[in-house]
Amino acid sequence: MLFKRDLLQSLVIIVFFISYLIAFVSSSSSKPNIILIIADDLGWNDVGFHGSAEIPTPNIDALAYNGLIMNRHYVLPTCTPSRVSLMTGKYPIRVGLQGDPMRSQDRVALPIEEKILPQYLKEQGYKTHLVGKWHLGFYQTRFTPTKRGFDSHFGFYSGTTRYNDSVTYSEPYEGIDAHRDLSPAGAEFYRKYLTDVFTEEAVRIIKNHDRNHPLFLEISHAAVHAIKNNILQVRNVDENNRKFGYIKNEHRRLFAGILDALDESVGKVIEALDSSQLLKNSVVLFISDNGGATVDPLWKYENTASNWPLRGMKTSLYEGGVRGVAALWSPLLIHRNNVTEEIFHISDWLPTFVAAAGGNVENIRGIDGVNQWNFLNGQQRTSNRSEVLININHKKKNAAIINGKWKLMRCHLGHTPSFADEYGGLSERNESEVIFKIEKVIGSTTNNVISKYVSSSLNLSETFLRVRSLATIDKKCSERILAANETRTTPCEGDHLFNVEDDPCEYYIIKNISYSSIANELKSRLDYFESVTVKQENIISDWKADPKFFSGYWKPWLDEEEKFLNCATLFNLSCIAIITILLYKII
Ligand SMILES: *[C@@H]1O[C@H](CO)[C@@H](O)[C@H](O)[C@H]1NC(C)=O
Ligand SMILES: *[C@@H]1O[C@H](CO)[C@@H](O)[C@H](O)[C@H]1NC(C)=O
Ligand SMILES: *[C@@H]1O[C@H](CO)[C@@H](O)[C@H](O)[C@H]1NC(C)=O
Ligand SMILES: *[C@@H]1O[C@H](CO)[C@@H](O)[C@H](O)[C@H]1NC(C)=O
Ligand SMILES: *[C@@H]1O[C@H](CO)[C@@H](O)[C@H](O)[C@H]1NC(C)=O
Ligand SMILES: *[C@@H]1O[C@H](CO)[C@@H](O)[C@H](O)[C@H]1NC(C)=O
Ligand SMILES: *[C@@H]1O[C@H](CO)[C@@H](O)[C@H](O)[C@H]1NC(C)=O
Ligand SMILES: *[C@@H]1O[C@H](CO)[C@@H](O)[C@H](O)[C@H]1NC(C)=O
Repeated sequence: MLFKRDLLQSLVIIVFFISYLIAFVSSSSSKPNIILIIADDLGWNDVGFHGSAEIPTPNIDALAYNGLIMNRHYVLPTCTPSRVSLMTGKYPIRVGLQGDPMRSQDRVALPIEEKILPQYLKEQGYKTHLVGKWHLGFYQTRFTPTKRGFDSHFGFYSGTTRYNDSVTYSEPYEGIDAHRDLSPAGAEFYRKYLTDVFTEEAVRIIKNHDRNHPLFLEISHAAVHAIKNNILQVRNVDENNRKFGYIKNEHRRLFAGILDALDESVGKVIEALDSSQLLKNSVVLFISDNGGATVDPLWKYENTASNWPLRGMKTSLYEGGVRGVAALWSPLLIHRNNVTEEIFHISDWLPTFVAAAGGNVENIRGIDGVNQWNFLNGQQRTSNRSEVLININHKKKNAAIINGKWKLMRCHLGHTPSFADEYGGLSERNESEVIFKIEKVIGSTTNNVISKYVSSSLNLSETFLRVRSLATIDKKCSERILAANETRTTPCEGDHLFNVEDDPCEYYIIKNISYSSIANELKSRLDYFESVTVKQENIISDWKADPKFFSGYWKPWLDEEEKFLNCATLFNLSCIAIITILLYKII
């Protein structure tokens, strides 16, 4: 009897264990790995897949031509607001962070109450890693990535950093901005090339990844952002001049080198995913955080990005500032070799990735992002989004909203027309200077790896060229292109209506009263969003952040203040110690 009962018990345990194992294996294998690559300040026309031949981007293009190019992927016009939206799934007006990007010494951060993307994905069993830029505040440790859902962070906290040693200048302070989780990591960047350091880290994470868990890897590059004093840093200037000598503008030539290293990085990441058996179950998304900076209107850097032929650049609410480069590839999805004109917003990735991970999106309240997973996996023919709030910025006195093909630009009284809102900068396409070679894309690392998943009967050059032509919008902008040599300024005062489907270059303001009801609907939606906008904070620039107080490092500088606020009682010894340190600092 006793023996039988033991046997029964062990059987029950074994059955239980096996079913647990099956459940575990099936659940982890069904969750896709999510690889998110973000370029910084990359312009519409900097990648080859929108029709440019000037700087070859064969790896990025191979991802795009094999997958789905998202030709209406809206982002915010600058770094911090865009990353707020990506991480929270909300428009940045919901948290008061719709304004200028954070400076390193600013006492500001994404509010701690906001639950962010890696936190959601951790709940779904993901291992979560951030490589590179954060830019969502770090004045206290609790705001840094590893305290907010990332299992690891290797990179920098600020808006950008030097490519040869990860030193960040944020006027008037300068210091090393390099961290491995919470530890200083300057040595890992010293005299190395930033993009390569991030690539090596990403490859290391991929190689070491425990395949019992799904992977969320965000690679957030500094490339192609320029740094202090117009400097664009490449690996080696002489080699760069040899490779891109055909580019006349010196800055643009350096820009090409930065972009080239970024493109190479994409190839290495795809290769590592494949050799680690992760690629077959991965979704790879490549996006830019905002439009290209032809010059940087905020910090006056001469970046020489190009948004040709779109109007506007980084900081602008015209398409050139907010219609970001975006392409998605996955062997799991049906969209291949295609371009979509469906509207996406950067906030959509939070619910979309949570849905991809098997999470219940209905439980996520208060977000603006729309779950697009059913569109991406082919269960739905169209996206569920038609409206996008582009932004509302009371300090800059501008706002914009889109519904379908219609876009309303609102310029409040007193708005100063700015260079950034025009067709300025280095943006012409001169095909006679370079001959585009699709063979480069076909022979790229990315394409060689991805070709395993592609039917061999496909004529790649024909297919890729067809997709490229679909993704190139020049044909809709012929009048603007003819007038490319004119520096037009059409001051924006009041509300202007555009049809961004037929006129993506925003060349014609629609004044025909037949469309006034459309304009009125957009106005009232914009009024509504204005009514729920959280005011932009007055940001405190804090001298106590100066890296000279922290052995030359940018790091959280107000942790003691936080502890002070949490002090339960004055008779608490550690509280007294903290107060003493604080008093000492103030004096
Ligand atoms: C990195 O580049 C800057 C600007 O060119 C230079 O001043 C600095 O010395 C360089 N750092 C190292 C470690 O070489
Ligand atoms: C590309 O997308 C369009 C629009 O969704 C669709 O009609 C077409 O069949 C797709 N083409 C391919 C080759 O998948
Ligand atoms: C999109 O909207 C349709 C129609 O309202 C709805 O049935 C569907 O569930 C929605 N899809 C997603 C992914 O939210
Ligand atoms: C294009 O480049 C060629 C060769 O450098 C030059 O002669 C021509 O003027 C350029 N065209 C434009 C529109 O810049
Ligand atoms: C692929 O298409 C191109 C362009 O249409 C054509 O020139 C080439 O011969 C085709 N290649 C094959 C192998 O059919
Ligand atoms: C722009 O180019 C056109 C055609 O070449 C020419 O007629 C026009 O005068 C030019 N405009 C300016 C402002 O240079
Ligand atoms: C205004 O738009 C209507 C509707 O598209 C069109 O019929 C009409 O000709 C337009 N009027 C002018 C002056 O362009
Ligand atoms: C004393 O204050 C510290 C710092 O805020 C806190 O961590 C600790 O829990 C407090 N101890 C007691 C006994 O209240």
